[in-house]
Amino acid sequence: MAPIGVQAIYHNDKELGSAEIAASLGIPYIHSTAATSSIEEVASANGSGHRWFQLYWPKDNELTKSLLSRAKENGYEVLVVTLDTWTLAWRPSDLDNGYVPFMKGVGTQNGFSDPVFQEKYRRTAGKEIEDDVVAASSAWNADLFSSQGDRHTWEDIAFLRNHWDGPIVLKGIQHVDDALMAVRSGVQGIVVSNHGGRQVDGAIASLEVLPEIVDAVGDKLAVLFDSGIRTGSDIVKALCLGAKAVLVGRPWVYGLGIAGKKGAQDVLLGLLADLDLTLGLAGLQGVQDCKRAVLRKVAYGGDVHSAY
Ligand SMILES: Cc1cc2nc3c(=O)[nH]c(=O)nc-3n(C[C@H](O)[C@H](O)[C@H](O)COP(=O)(O)O)c2cc1C
Repeated sequence: MAPIGVQAIYHNDKELGSAEIAASLGIPYIHSTAATSSIEEVASANGSGHRWFQLYWPKDNELTKSLLSRAKENGYEVLVVTLDTWTLAWRPSDLDNGYVPFMKGVGTQNGFSDPVFQEKYRRTAGKEIEDDVVAASSAWNADLFSSQGDRHTWEDIAFLRNHWDGPIVLKGIQHVDDALMAVRSGVQGIVVSNHGGRQVDGAIASLEVLPEIVDAVGDKLAVLFDSGIRTGSDIVKALCLGAKAVLVGRPWVYGLGIAGKKGAQDVLLGLLADLDLTLGLAGLQGVQDCKRAVLRKVAYGGDVHSAY
């Protein structure tokens, strides 16, 4: 389950419901930094399930260390570092709707529950978070998303390696050069992703670059894939092109919005059933049989390919 922030706006079941059903289906759950539930609450809802932590990487190293140690203490196995959203994109429909939950203390729960952030806010603002939620939200967001000041560089990955002893996966890779940088930085995986097309208008489809990235680095780290998985055959295509696994975002979030955790669960069960049937109908015994020879790229009239 791809990391999805601010789930309370879809349903009261929010991240706790999603993390619970992930465990019951045996699907790893990726907890977003921008969540409406804390690291600890999600861990308890996920129980004995597999959970990963997605980092929107704060500028403040003490804050980063605190988030990583909370994740580690609470059984998160993999660190997913999102690279493509160091600041939020220009999103006209959000602006039209005045949709900025982060500025109202919604989606800031990992920060507000963090002892290092609490102490820092007390020291710099001279008040408690509850005294001024809007100002506290601004302070937390400035650390996570502000374009002001120095941002992290490839060299900084060493800092994460020093403070996280499990696998690290970089999310938001769309170019072979960056995939090669990921290998050099010593991480264990990447997610080929364009953030569901939500960051750069006109960004190429991530499926377009998946094969060349797999060819360049697939034997050196685990290549995962997301952005646009909707059906069983979408999953088969991504696996055949060399992805080790796929992440799914909007489909189960729509289910969550319609019918809470039961809705999210039904969507995922449907997707798994579709995958099973598609594998069988394609004559494949299981995901291990997914390879390129299974696919044929057919150029239909009107197709436009990114040739450069
Ligand atoms: C509503 C919404 C919230 C998201 N929140 C996060 C987030 O907090 N962290 C993150 O790394 N990616 C986030 N993403 C991106 C997803 O993890 C994922 O890359 C994308 O949704 C995959 O595409 P799909 O929705 O087509 O499956 C979000 C996407 C959506 C639609």
